Amino acid sequence: MDLGNLRQNYKKTALNIKNTAENPIEQFKKWFQEALDADMSAEANAMVLSTVGKNNRPSARVVLLKSIDDGFVFYSNYESRKGENLEINQYASLTFFWAELERQVRIEGKVEKISEEESNHYFKSRPIESQMGAIASPQSRILNTRDELERHFDSIKKNYEETNFIERPKNWGGYRLIPDYAEFWQGRESRLHDRISYLLKEDGEERYAPLWEIVRLAP
Ligand SMILES: Cc1cc2nc3c(=O)[nH]c(=O)nc-3n(C[C@H](O)[C@H](O)[C@H](O)COP(=O)(O)O)c2cc1C
Repeated sequence: MDLGNLRQNYKKTALNIKNTAENPIEQFKKWFQEALDADMSAEANAMVLSTVGKNNRPSARVVLLKSIDDGFVFYSNYESRKGENLEINQYASLTFFWAELERQVRIEGKVEKISEEESNHYFKSRPIESQMGAIASPQSRILNTRDELERHFDSIKKNYEETNFIERPKNWGGYRLIPDYAEFWQGRESRLHDRISYLLKEDGEERYAPLWEIVRLAP
């Protein structure tokens, strides 16, 4: 399959240091709102989470962004492959691609588990079937049959119907990536795309008011 002629010309808009926010979280919120407002074919909050595990091996998968505060929060199984990777190496990156807006966002930083209270709160807010699914699935483990998974789900459901009690399993919860680097990419004509990046300057005095160095990168 030769895909050499498959190409798009991007001409929607431009990105300058002058029209970007002073910190990447504010810039992200602005673009994210625009992604929500746009008629997107895919979920705007879907992002590729890249981690590095044993033997420096990278691995990547899509997860959903669930909140933005001083970091980017997502939820998963702590014993999954990503969970194991994050135990070994706290650094990770997030990649968003909003095709309709001809935009990519890259976020990098350290990942920490969120508090048990925050995880409990979010777990309870999910539809009951999703709560049961999170309990039923030993994420990233080998299943001999799908039936095994469904039987496990059914027994959890039956138990819930009898007891009306369900609790977040300890191996499921949230992570927060605290950014120290971010890059906003806007497609432009002739492959002369705009790339504006933010690098956190490590400066003790700036701890409570992070200082971001904002530069333009060659496409
Ligand atoms: C659109 C989409 C959203 C997803 N959201 C999540 C999510 O929020 N959390 C999660 O653990 N897995 C999510 N997944 C599944 C992951 O991509 C992946 O299969 C799973 O987390 C196991 O990854 P791992 O074995 O690398 O840990 C999503 C997949 C897709 C395609």
